[in-house]
Amino acid sequence: MLIESLRLENFRNYVQEEIRLEPGINILFGENGQGKTNFLEALYFLLTGKSYRVQREQELTHWGENGFRLQGLFQVKQRIIQLESRYYERRKILKINNMPCRKLSDYVGTVNAVYFSPDDLILVKGGPGERRKFLDFHIAQTKPGYVSLLNSYNKVLEQKRALLKSNLSLQSKRSQLAVWNEELIELGRKLIKHRMNLTEELQTVSSYFYQHISEGKEKMEIHYRPLGLKDYEEAISSFPNLLIEHTEQEIERQAVLIGPHRDDLVIYLNQKPARLYASQGQVRSLVLSLKLGEVQLIQAKKEEYPLLLLDDVLSELDRFRRKYLLEFIYSSSIQTLITMTSAEEMPEGKINRYYVKQGQIRREF
Ligand SMILES: Nc1ncnc2c1ncn2[C@@H]1O[C@H](COP(=O)(O)OP(=O)(O)OP(=O)(O)O)[C@@H](O)[C@H]1O
Ligand SMILES: [Mg+2]
Repeated sequence: MLIESLRLENFRNYVQEEIRLEPGINILFGENGQGKTNFLEALYFLLTGKSYRVQREQELTHWGENGFRLQGLFQVKQRIIQLESRYYERRKILKINNMPCRKLSDYVGTVNAVYFSPDDLILVKGGPGERRKFLDFHIAQTKPGYVSLLNSYNKVLEQKRALLKSNLSLQSKRSQLAVWNEELIELGRKLIKHRMNLTEELQTVSSYFYQHISEGKEKMEIHYRPLGLKDYEEAISSFPNLLIEHTEQEIERQAVLIGPHRDDLVIYLNQKPARLYASQGQVRSLVLSLKLGEVQLIQAKKEEYPLLLLDDVLSELDRFRRKYLLEFIYSSSIQTLITMTSAEEMPEGKINRYYVKQGQIRREF
């Protein structure tokens, strides 16, 4: 997949900017606070209809304006695709080749990208929610319908929560819970299955990358823990019983205690939980391996590499890992956008350079 050009209108600190990008490595460099991350955020928003930084589109809108527009030309399997996402008067409009998409799930995944920034280190050290988000985001990009499934599950969850918090009698709570639980089980099992499959695929590719990055010295493993259990079959079959067993506790605590919205993806390093024991460098290698695993899986599913967006990560990697990453990018011909603050750190080889200053981008030759 390739991005050919991107046009931004009133997005963050960009008023009006259009830029052509080249295959291979594109470097955006400039001082702090000039718009490098904003540019990657714009591209990511254009591909997914969402920002990874904020929930509300208003924050993405250039101050004083009431909306923004992003347009991009992409190449997917030698076909040109135009994407447009516009936010105006609190409404979001997404278009593929000028045709409006009614559902986000019809739009997401048309063009794929993997984004990696130092904030992603939270994947290893942060709570389970970060890891669920990582899995869900990936599945949403590659499986049509997953966004709808996730939305439906979250709606049922909300309804069940509202019921638990309501003033209804114990008896009516118990009887109504059974109805929501049935839906929770049906949708929850599907969620678990998708996440389980992805984890197994990732385990194979990411542990391969980790082994190479650590020069064969260390071993990474990832395991999905459905409903807090180790075994998938057991989780699927015991889901209804677990809900029944926890009904009184759920009523008492007014919280939904059982379901994949509480699952975790456990990352092990040399058979120990990485969240507790991994060093800074090891965390970086683990996240890099997960991200490269994602790149490889998208390639396997879509038969084309996704775009790779590296925000400030190159300077965070030591020489060996940096070299490993760049060799992977070059050998796989992945179109990559890299941000950095100083032009001196630029990698060797053929690169295209763009200078970013105060919301304007200039190609440097
Ligand atoms: N909605 C907005 N409207 C206008 N300007 C904004 C908006 N949101 C953020 N900015 C400005 O964008 C700038 C930050 O841009 P960005 O995060 O892309 O910087 P950067 O070039 O990546 O810097 P760094 O090297 O520090 O990461 C800040 O100056 C901020 O004030
Ligand atoms: Mg930045």
